[in-house]
Amino acid sequence: MVYEATVSAPVNIACIKYWGKRDTKLIIPTNSSLSITLSQDHLRSTTTCRADPRFERGDRLWLNGKEEVIKENGRTWVCIEELRRWRRAMEEKDKKLPELSEMPLRIASYNNFPTAAGLASSASGLAALVSSLSTLFSLPQTPSQLSLIARQGSGSACRSLFGGFVAWREGLASDGSDSMAQQVAPETHWPEMQALICVVSDQKKATSSTAGMQATVETSALFRQRLQVVPSRMDAIESAIKQKDFESFAKITMADSNTFHACCLDTTPPIFYMNDVSRSIIQLIEQLNKANGKPLAAYTFDAGPNAVIYTLDKYMPVVIKAVQRFFPPAQDLEDRLNVMPAVEKAGFPMM
Ligand code: ADP
Ligand code: DP6
Ligand code: CO
Repeated sequence: MVYEATVSAPVNIACIKYWGKRDTKLIIPTNSSLSITLSQDHLRSTTTCRADPRFERGDRLWLNGKEEVIKENGRTWVCIEELRRWRRAMEEKDKKLPELSEMPLRIASYNNFPTAAGLASSASGLAALVSSLSTLFSLPQTPSQLSLIARQGSGSACRSLFGGFVAWREGLASDGSDSMAQQVAPETHWPEMQALICVVSDQKKATSSTAGMQATVETSALFRQRLQVVPSRMDAIESAIKQKDFESFAKITMADSNTFHACCLDTTPPIFYMNDVSRSIIQLIEQLNKANGKPLAAYTFDAGPNAVIYTLDKYMPVVIKAVQRFFPPAQDLEDRLNVMPAVEKAGFPMM
């Protein structure tokens, strides 16, 4: 008997950024954050987990067809072992259950968008891993409980377990037991909200988010100042979302992206996630907003050069027209988009 589960998880793009850890092992953040989970129809990770007693001992993982070693005590290992512990507890209570917790695992995951390029692949990737294993193990845990596990795989992943507008509360407990994600509003609350993803570069970034934020915590004085303003930004953006106040939402989102990238510049040695094209996109949106008299779009950049532009559906045609006028799409874009589903369906490379 082979046991298998496949689950997809969407990316989320933060408006108030998570950047810095209080506890690097448990991944407890230095500040709360808030993001929007995008629709799974677009950017997603799809992960298949298989348990089979005939597999050789030890778990194995393939990402986009290439094997990634699961390091003992590393983050992925911790996620798998925590979920296995929950499964084992179920099996001990009900002896009729198959002993999946004893079987080696084979995990294959595909991202249908650039990996490690600042488009939150670690968020959708670890959320998909946790969701697919929890499905395979038929775990009864809630999304909040699963978010505690996903957080230990990659901090931003805890927010991808919920749709819509999601906060990650930093929590007070030193063991991280209250550092979890919480839905602030479902996607149906503000369906006019849309995101335009501008892929400036699909190359792997030079500094991973993990390494980048650790360097910022250790060397940036500006980072400590940012921590003072985040709580009031969290309150303000949550009320903007609840009241569907796009103007306030946009101002806070752009301000926090800029503060975050300023902290990266203030790091020693400085980290440059944005490039000239990223900065031109900022200027373009600032000019559009100025011409409109009030914000009609908000840019935000994660740890990479790629822009995410949040806007309302009524403004989207104007935003797309402006972006396409100044940044014509790559010639081969359509071809590249067409090959993605084929890659995603390719399945287990080792079978
Ligand atoms: P990003 O900006 O894309 O989130 P990060 O530096 O935070 O970049 O993380 C990238 C890393 O996340 C990858 O090198 C890989 O280890 C992990 N990752 C990305 N996608 C997946 C996935 N689908 N399954 C498992 N791990 C993944
Ligand atoms: C800029 O969650 O990728 O995207 O916890 O070390 O895996 P690790 O980092 P990660 O950091 C995300 C940083 C960010 C902002 C955000 O998503 O909130
Ligand atoms: Co990431």
